[in-house]
Amino acid sequence: MFAVHLMAFYFSKLKEDQIKKVDRFLYHMRLSDDTLLDIMRRFQAEMEKGLAKDMNPTAAVKMLPTFVRAIPDGSEKGEFLSLDLGGSKFRVLKVQVAEEGKRHVQMESQFYPTPSEVIRGNGTELFEYVADCLADFMKTKGLKHKKLPLGLTFSFPCRQTKLEEGVLISWTKKFKARGVQDTDVVSRLTKAMRRHKDMDVDILALVNDTVGTMMTCAYDDPHCEVGVIIGTGTNACYMEDMSNIDLVEGDEGRMCINTEWGAFGDDGALEDIRTEFDRELDLGSLNPGKQLFEKMISGLYLGELVRLVLLKMAKAGLLFGGEKSSALHTKGKIETRHVAAMEKYKEGLANAREILVDLGLEPSEADCIAVQHVCTIVSFRSANLCAAALAAILTRLQENKKVERLRTTVGVDGTLYKIHPQYPKRLHKVVRKLVPSCDVRFLLSESGSTKGAAMVTAVASRVQAQRKQIDEVLALFRLTQEQLVDVQAKMRAELEYGLKKKNHTLATVRMLPTYVCGLPDGTEKGKFLALDLGGTNFRVLLVKIRSGRRSVRMYNKIFAIPLGIMQGTGEELFDHIVQCIADFLDYMGLKGAPLPLGFTFSFPCRQMSIDKGALIGWTKGFKATDCEGEDVVDMLREAIKRRNEFDLDIVALVNDTVGTMMTCGYEDPNCEIGLIAGTGSNLCYMEDMRNIEMVEGDDGKMCINTEWGGFGDNGCIEDIRTRYDTEVDEGSLNPGKQRYEKMTSGMYLGEIVRQILIDLTKQGLLFRGQISERLRTRGIFETKFLSQIESDRLALLQVRRILQELGLDSTCEDSIVVKEVCGAVSRRAAQLCGAGLAAVVEKRREDQGLEHLKITVGVDGTLYKLHPHFSRILQETVKELAPQCDVTFMLSEDGSGKGAALITAVAKRIQQARKEN
Ligand code: BG6
Ligand code: BG6
Ligand code: GLC
Ligand code: GLC
Repeated sequence: MFAVHLMAFYFSKLKEDQIKKVDRFLYHMRLSDDTLLDIMRRFQAEMEKGLAKDMNPTAAVKMLPTFVRAIPDGSEKGEFLSLDLGGSKFRVLKVQVAEEGKRHVQMESQFYPTPSEVIRGNGTELFEYVADCLADFMKTKGLKHKKLPLGLTFSFPCRQTKLEEGVLISWTKKFKARGVQDTDVVSRLTKAMRRHKDMDVDILALVNDTVGTMMTCAYDDPHCEVGVIIGTGTNACYMEDMSNIDLVEGDEGRMCINTEWGAFGDDGALEDIRTEFDRELDLGSLNPGKQLFEKMISGLYLGELVRLVLLKMAKAGLLFGGEKSSALHTKGKIETRHVAAMEKYKEGLANAREILVDLGLEPSEADCIAVQHVCTIVSFRSANLCAAALAAILTRLQENKKVERLRTTVGVDGTLYKIHPQYPKRLHKVVRKLVPSCDVRFLLSESGSTKGAAMVTAVASRVQAQRKQIDEVLALFRLTQEQLVDVQAKMRAELEYGLKKKNHTLATVRMLPTYVCGLPDGTEKGKFLALDLGGTNFRVLLVKIRSGRRSVRMYNKIFAIPLGIMQGTGEELFDHIVQCIADFLDYMGLKGAPLPLGFTFSFPCRQMSIDKGALIGWTKGFKATDCEGEDVVDMLREAIKRRNEFDLDIVALVNDTVGTMMTCGYEDPNCEIGLIAGTGSNLCYMEDMRNIEMVEGDDGKMCINTEWGGFGDNGCIEDIRTRYDTEVDEGSLNPGKQRYEKMTSGMYLGEIVRQILIDLTKQGLLFRGQISERLRTRGIFETKFLSQIESDRLALLQVRRILQELGLDSTCEDSIVVKEVCGAVSRRAAQLCGAGLAAVVEKRREDQGLEHLKITVGVDGTLYKLHPHFSRILQETVKELAPQCDVTFMLSEDGSGKGAALITAVAKRIQQARKEN
């Protein structure tokens, strides 16, 4: 019993001594947590540097864009060829992705040797060899007659400008074929394949092994957005936000970046942690001074590092009694598999003895323990360094996503990671320590990079096909210059047509006289009430105009009009309006004073005078019964009477376009056009009386409310209407009516977008082909959402968040498409609106016989005000289509209410004058 204890004591003492000895000797290889954090930070800086356009040329870590933009989503399918060159083994494969709609991948593969005379000989011969192996594979598998796309896994740093091209920056690891560096390996291989006349293969994708690994793992776990190789070489890739990748155009979505972290330190950034062994190993390598980080980590070098340490220890008399064997002196005699074997938990010591004996040494028990510990320190350092760099990537992902906790998956491959007994555990532990705010899952790639490469190839062909389908839809919304000129001409014709007496009741662009004959002249004064009904908000206002000073004070209150009332009976609607007026008067303490009132009513009315107008038909979201054909001023008067609480003097009925023109005209006398681009779309302008056949008199001007929203109701713009416009029209309150408005205004743009999204989803191009209840809901995309989604300042994730808030569960890729759809729809709207406006200003210019016309347009409406691009595109279009007109756009800040009050003031003055006469 005692002897056993003594033995145990002796052994643990021996072990302790050896470990202490090695620890002292390799002090420099043991990295503290602080050092690792420091390395992690250095690597973060390296990534920044590599991603920045100006710094990239001198950056050691190249951060290479891969042009892989999406991880697999399960819809990949097809049959592909794959080559896998650059790891410990060279393979040719046939990959069948997704059989019978299942997520399933079938692979058949064949390994081929890579003799050193091939991989370190002449470059052309290397590619010919690869092509020969492929030909052989195709022959054995009976594939020669087939035209198959090929994905090439090529595990070396390549500069890519597209998926199917890659210029070799430099060979690494064991390869050093002449004349390949700085050439495109895809065309090199393609050329070599041409020697085989019976082979028809198209290389669709060039993929680094890290990328292949990430894609392989992402096929099973969609959270996988990092790929790491710890094999012959070491490297990592991850999904980076496009907005951070200076080297590639475009800001949307993400792209996989091949970091080529093996080159970390090539600029001297790691000199403080490199040891004499690292330097010696580097000097004896194929690429001295290069891949310095890789040389401290990967399988090709780990055994050699151990050998160099053992040799030095032996020389110092710390091992093998100072004896060295010739094998120990020979480069490459200790390999990574030896290191792994010596570190095995149980058999490790026995393995160590065996391996050392094989090296011609005579190790003591103490030597074996010491050698085992050397292996541990070297491989531990490797895992630590890998962990530090990986932690930097995870931190970057977390920062990009702006999340407090990152949940992600890292796909890993490589012989060192796979065969070393402790490596994965150590790596995982250190990563979790360095980035405690990340929940990382490590997923071992079971089937190598090629499965992922096939996925990239499949994704490439899918994206290509889908892009084509999406482009086809968006193309329907792209108007050519000729089409816009045509719209302008047609609008012009409609304007002329509507002004003629004989056509007046038939016209679709109704050209309604408003009985507003002049702009304010500054002499207006008094206190007025105003109503503003028909836009987004219903308002009641008190407007105080002080004469001479062109100053106006306004008090207003917004009231809601419930849907039930908008679409109930006319009586209910007008009673509700009067109720709101009563509330306002109460609120302002105004009851009893019968103030003159201007009624902004944003619907088409046939006016007989300034205070009389029959509603022609509801538009937008209103549909109250018993109003069409009725004089709305009368209806309001009757409702006031019904209430019998107060009296009001309704002086003027005003369309919102007219109110807007007046509001702006108060400040700029050149403002002779009023434009609304809001819930609805409409325009009014000052027309010469002589052109207005329906109203007597030829002198002066009168404002015409064009009601251009009805443009196209006679079918004249069917050529540019799409199936989506038809769909929106059919689902509206007024089918067949207001066709131009339905292509240009806020109430409908979102609906058009929704119809397109439904269609794209049906085609399987969006939302994973699932049409959600939400997407079926009318009106989900209000103007404000469209405006937010299209804002340039918004990162894709924010777009995604908006969509999610709307209840649409979208991926980043979906979000890109949604944004594009919104862009196409709103762009067309702005252009169409611009073409209409160009028709009006050109008409005015020609009517006045002017070479150049200078005119101001007063504008209002949420679409114009909120949308990030609408106003600009509108203005550009007008400039292009009416180059002889100098059009100033003046935003109405105060709404139509102010203009309505001004009109009321003028009307009141005339009324008074008439009475006095
Ligand atoms: C394999 C991949 O699984 O892992 C290769 O298919 C890759 O493409 C390799 O290069 C990395 O490991 P190793 O150890 O073979 O270099
Ligand atoms: C407001 C006007 O500013 O703009 C309303 O006061 C008008 O009269 C409205 O109808 C138009 O914009 P929207 O987007 O509210 O319909
Ligand atoms: C080397 C190559 C790199 C590859 C890695 C792992 O570092 O340069 O492209 O990913 O080895 O195989
Ligand atoms: C609708 C109305 C019109 C109004 C426009 C803007 O087109 O018919 O009268 O001016 O919307 O609100």
